[in-house]
Amino acid sequence: MGKAFGAVAGVGAIGSLVAMKKTWDPLPSVKAAGFTTLDMSIYEENVLVTEKWRGKPIFVMKKTEAMVAKATESQKARDIVISGSHYMIAIGLCTHLGCIPAYNAAEEGFACACHGGQFDWSGEVTKVPPPRGFDIPPFKIDGNMLVLGEAGPEYTKMKETGITL
Ligand code: FES
Repeated sequence: MGKAFGAVAGVGAIGSLVAMKKTWDPLPSVKAAGFTTLDMSIYEENVLVTEKWRGKPIFVMKKTEAMVAKATESQKARDIVISGSHYMIAIGLCTHLGCIPAYNAAEEGFACACHGGQFDWSGEVTKVPPPRGFDIPPFKIDGNMLVLGEAGPEYTKMKETGITL
């Protein structure tokens, strides 16, 4: 009876360890060389969603028609266009000293509480001390999906033209 109980307890313990290891393991998308794949059809206009890529916050916001219409050339250059929709996608860290700015949908802008830096809805700086707009993570467009961690032609062009570091 004692041995049988010990065997059952042992199997239970192994099962628990296997379950715990599964919890610790990264998701398959993360395992694949640090890529994160986002389905861009789920985002709503002027609603900021913070995703994660390689431990960093990634801001994702679908732009409204008004934002697209009033964009300057430099704001347009930061757009990521997928299936006809325009998105602001950026590493969600202030380019001053790395705090995470907060988005105010009514004002269509970001404010950094650390030293008062501000960014507009496209990720450009509107108030220093941040030295530049939000950095844009390497990305590749794949149909309606966005693959973070892989540099597609749109990202390469942004790098070459100095839109992002
Ligand atoms: S870290 Fe954002 S303004 Fe200093």
